[in-house]
Amino acid sequence: MMNSPTTEKARRYAEATPEILAVVAGEPNLVARMSTVASMLAAAFAKFSWCGFYQVDPANSHELVVGPYQGPLGCLRIAFGRGVCGAAAERRETMVVEDVHAFPDHIACDATAQSEIVVPVFDAEGTLLAVLDVDSRSRATFDETDARHLRALIDGVFAVSVP
Ligand code: SME
Repeated sequence: MMNSPTTEKARRYAEATPEILAVVAGEPNLVARMSTVASMLAAAFAKFSWCGFYQVDPANSHELVVGPYQGPLGCLRIAFGRGVCGAAAERRETMVVEDVHAFPDHIACDATAQSEIVVPVFDAEGTLLAVLDVDSRSRATFDETDARHLRALIDGVFAVSVP
């Protein structure tokens, strides 16, 4: 019997998450951790057309600047409050957008993107470091299953003290 798409997705997260955590274990460098997460998620999920990070700019705490990613060229900077990434950064909340064309103020870096999820990234102290942005070329790719598993993965990688 075929697995439902949700079961298949959950299975894939259950497989990819410990693999990613094992690779980054003990690595304190943020770029190394972000690059690994972007690369391994993109390899695990064919539907992720753009997958990567926008970091809080150390020189301007109300602006995001692009970090490690996989996919076509992304815009370099996004102000807090702008687009889906800026909204997630400002609200410190995960945003799931089934249809980016229906989202007011969506920033179309990649014209083929149809849906997306953005997960805020916190360090062990709860300081916002970045957002994880994942786009798809199909509508309604992301749901509660993605939100839950990506939250757990991101917390496992970034909300920990690395000696
Ligand atoms: N879609 C994002 C912009 C970033 S890119 O798509 C890579 C947004 O509206 O926040």
